Amino acid sequence: MLLAYTILQAHPEAIPLNPIARWEWVFPVVESIHICGFTLLVGTIVILDLRLLGLRLLRQSISQVARDLAPWIWTGIVLQLTTGPYLFSGDPYEYVQIAAFRTKMILLLLALIFHFTVIRMATAPSRDSAPLGWRRPAAVVSLGLWVSVMLAGMWIGNL
Ligand code: HEM
Repeated sequence: MLLAYTILQAHPEAIPLNPIARWEWVFPVVESIHICGFTLLVGTIVILDLRLLGLRLLRQSISQVARDLAPWIWTGIVLQLTTGPYLFSGDPYEYVQIAAFRTKMILLLLALIFHFTVIRMATAPSRDSAPLGWRRPAAVVSLGLWVSVMLAGMWIGNL
């Protein structure tokens, strides 16, 4: 890696080793998977939040809906946390200078922390028979955070 980096520093015209910087078709392919990943991730989180708001899937308990959606949410997270950094690796110096990218990373961290703390508490089986109460505003915050991550992502690509 260090040798490759030294050669690239000395000869910036050298052919990049990273396939995403080397072949034009790699970026759109990876970005398409990234788009599928966020559709899966944010789509399933929206369904969970609609249940927490008491608007959909009322015949199932909140914890049952959360259990059924968990594998899809995890698949979406793994897809995003693999394709995202790889997209980033295509031009890291450029992306770190883009305010939209930095904003997205901060929002993404907040959204993930909120999901694995507040939403995890809100979907605990022990609360299935309790009134929705604070869980409704928690669902609204969750929706707001994930939609903001998506908008910041679109903002990067459309500057
Ligand atoms: C898990 C949540 C994530 C969501 C919901 C998300 C969403 C998005 C969206 C909506 C786009 C724009 C797609 C387009 O309009 O073409 C995008 C592009 C991008 N995302 Fe993500 N992303 C996530 C995670 C990440 C991570 C973790 C990274 C990097 C560390 C990342 C890096 C990028 C890059 C570099 C682009 C391409 C921007 C360009 O067009 O040049 N994403 N993302």
